[in-house]
Amino acid sequence: MTKKTVAVLGMGGTIAGQASSAGDNIDYKAAELGIESLLQTIPIDRRLEFDIYAEQVAQLDSKDMSLPALHQLAQRVNAMVATPCVKGIVITHGTDTLEETAFFLQQVCSPSKPVVLTCAMRPATAFVPDGPQNILDALVVACCPDVAGVFVVCAGRIHLASLVQKIHTYRLDSFSSGEAGCFGLVEEGCARFLSSPPAVPVVSLESDTKKILLSMSDIVWPRVEILMNFAGADGRTVDALVAQGIDGIVVAGTGNGTIHHSLEASLLRAQDQGVAIVVSTRCVEGRVLALQKRLFADSAGLNPVKARIALILKLLDK
Ligand code: SIN
Repeated sequence: MTKKTVAVLGMGGTIAGQASSAGDNIDYKAAELGIESLLQTIPIDRRLEFDIYAEQVAQLDSKDMSLPALHQLAQRVNAMVATPCVKGIVITHGTDTLEETAFFLQQVCSPSKPVVLTCAMRPATAFVPDGPQNILDALVVACCPDVAGVFVVCAGRIHLASLVQKIHTYRLDSFSSGEAGCFGLVEEGCARFLSSPPAVPVVSLESDTKKILLSMSDIVWPRVEILMNFAGADGRTVDALVAQGIDGIVVAGTGNGTIHHSLEASLLRAQDQGVAIVVSTRCVEGRVLALQKRLFADSAGLNPVKARIALILKLLDK
């Protein structure tokens, strides 16, 4: 069997976390172990099936993820995709903002090879860690012929970047693709795909914008915040953000993107002043459906955190 070269990029997360005792699955410090050490946790006979190039891109608890770190990762992914001998890329990452990173990479890199993010819900020091199996499964998906794009592999399931969402605070199987269901499964070292990826990307960026993003070192990122609608919401936060020069606001609306009249009035004023407003929903399932008269753009099915990434990229595209 010829070995497949996989580039494994380390970003930190619980998968690289350490606790003071093996029995502790939740009170640990994320992003402690380097990528080489993580790879040592895979049984040697399985690891030797792959020719692995490992690189530590960052060492972050993903709650602290930033746009510059996303940008740096996209540049490394792009370089690896352009390396002819690399069949696929695996990224070890924290679970907390994994869906944003996956979505960002899909939009900016549109990779022609599999780019597979993986993670863990238990630290590397756990009595029964989930990270080693997840890395192994991700390596399998990264070597699959005829698949391209950004995927998330966790607990034996393969998810698409556009659909995946973290839905649980501690369960090992903490990701869901919602009503669509997962894209595939990894079963004892074999990937089985259940559906075809949607043909059209959610945000279509000008190729010049992609080139600029992937080649420039310093980007001035538009500022986009997320606000939630709730019982008793009002517009004071919007007014404060407008005074600070905000570029865009994503609203996690109630239900089908509904917004308290007081918050809505402030958002309309902000929109009139040139602030880009996009409405998503705080509902975990379903998407904001078009109404005959919607005052703001809707998020095209994206959840609020992905809608924020999409809006940032759209504002850069101008
Ligand atoms: C993180 O997101 O980096 C910490 C939490 C996790 O990986 O599950």
